[in-house]
Amino acid sequence: MSDASGVATVKDIPNDALTTGLTTPVPTVPAPGNTPVVPQNAIPPQPSFVGSIIGDNPYFQAGFGLMGLGVVLTGARQALIFGSTALRRRMLVSLEISNKDKAYDWFLAWMAHQTQVQAQTAASSRSIFSRSVPWIRSHQLSVETTFEQRKNGSSSVLFNLVAGPGTHWFRYRGAWMQVKRERETRSMQMMSGQPWETVTLTTLSKDRNLFPSLLGEARELAMKGHEGKLVVMTAWGIEWRPFGLPRRKRPLRSVVLDDGVSEKIENDVKAFLDRRQWYADRGIPYRRGYLLHGPPGSGKSSFIQALAGSLGYDICLLNLSERGLADDKLFHLLSNAPERSIILMEDVDAAFNKRIQTSEDGYQSSVTFSGFLNALDGVASGEERLIFLTTNHIEKLDPALVRPGRVDLACLIDDASPSQAKRLFTGFYDSEQNIGLEHLGDELESMVDKEMKQGRRVSMAALQGTFIRNGPEEAVEAAKELFVNR
Ligand SMILES: Nc1ncnc2c1ncn2[C@@H]1O[C@H](COP(=O)(O)OP(=O)(O)OP(=O)(O)O)[C@@H](O)[C@H]1O
Ligand SMILES: [Mg+2]
Repeated sequence: MSDASGVATVKDIPNDALTTGLTTPVPTVPAPGNTPVVPQNAIPPQPSFVGSIIGDNPYFQAGFGLMGLGVVLTGARQALIFGSTALRRRMLVSLEISNKDKAYDWFLAWMAHQTQVQAQTAASSRSIFSRSVPWIRSHQLSVETTFEQRKNGSSSVLFNLVAGPGTHWFRYRGAWMQVKRERETRSMQMMSGQPWETVTLTTLSKDRNLFPSLLGEARELAMKGHEGKLVVMTAWGIEWRPFGLPRRKRPLRSVVLDDGVSEKIENDVKAFLDRRQWYADRGIPYRRGYLLHGPPGSGKSSFIQALAGSLGYDICLLNLSERGLADDKLFHLLSNAPERSIILMEDVDAAFNKRIQTSEDGYQSSVTFSGFLNALDGVASGEERLIFLTTNHIEKLDPALVRPGRVDLACLIDDASPSQAKRLFTGFYDSEQNIGLEHLGDELESMVDKEMKQGRRVSMAALQGTFIRNGPEEAVEAAKELFVNR
């Protein structure tokens, strides 16, 4: 505002957001050469101290402007983040599966299976489109190798290529899903030494109902792989893990035991499995222990495997002399065996009789006999527990182990009896339409009977070995040489 006298007095400052409140006009620096003259009758403006500093200084004005802009932008950014998080929360849904969970392996195997299927369809399809748009885009793979070396020297190996750590995408029933496999490198799982891992599946919220069906499919696929197969588990630290590939089940009747023995054990196990409530009502731990004892090669291990197969159970194989197995681990393993499994401990006599001896490198087994008894007793969980022990020397076992509650049914699985030898023989060659088979069988039966009376026996394993190498006639002939004094 300049007056007519040409003396600059006051200048209005634009009334913007920053200067609001500074209503008093603030005098500005007069134009050079002019002396500011305050008119006699004018009321001198009374600028506040802060106002005078801020309003006077263009730097401050610019600073405030910038600050305001910053505040606005930060607010907008926060709002954007908040909005997108909220949107993601509302629109997306994630499912985390850790490798502690059974579904973890199922899911990875399922994904690997889908990749294979997709690769096959892409290869067989002529359409360029189906080749260029893979159903699953996995560029980081990891391999899970299952290797099994058998006693006879043969081995089998299976490479399973599964999605490796990283991000993968796939489509399931028309919905895209993101799979993030992450590995925690800083900490390991106690005992097993495996790193923690998680797989996170993310999809649109509207497709959340696909998760259960996807997991169900993965489980079904895993079960199908095991169908008709026997899974043998071994202890890894304090965990049970499948050992080798699932094996083909052995028919129960292919293991020929003495008359009635097989039925006796089978019926006992079935009766036990039917009486869960009975046990619960009486507060008795729902467990049953079996001891199969007898000479080597009589079919103890084979019978237990065939029985597990016929019941649809897995076998948890526990070696008591295993290094690193201490009382506490044994206790944990026995109380945490997988559902529907038989715990099998072979050669229980050896585990404790050799305890005083040390192995070549001076290692001593650290499962104590009392620890073992406690572990057998302590299996008091509500879960059913079927425990099978085997030994060649029942006489070496401590009576404390064989008492009911620990061993509820002990069975002698002996060398071949006359009828057993005949049944093994006829069962072995029955596909060979041999008319004289029955007669040859009778011959073998009476041979075993005669030798038995002279205190000489033959093991079922030895008979089986001869049958494998010979035809029926030669086998009966060769069997004469197999008897040993017992
Ligand atoms: N009763 C049987 N019926 C059919 N096959 C048998 C029988 N007994 C043994 N065999 C055969 O002999 C082999 C050895 O049997 P298995 O390992 O079951 O004997 P085991 O009693 O467990 O011996 P060990 O006491 O040495 O462990 C197997 O190949 C099995 O098929
Ligand atoms: Mg055995």
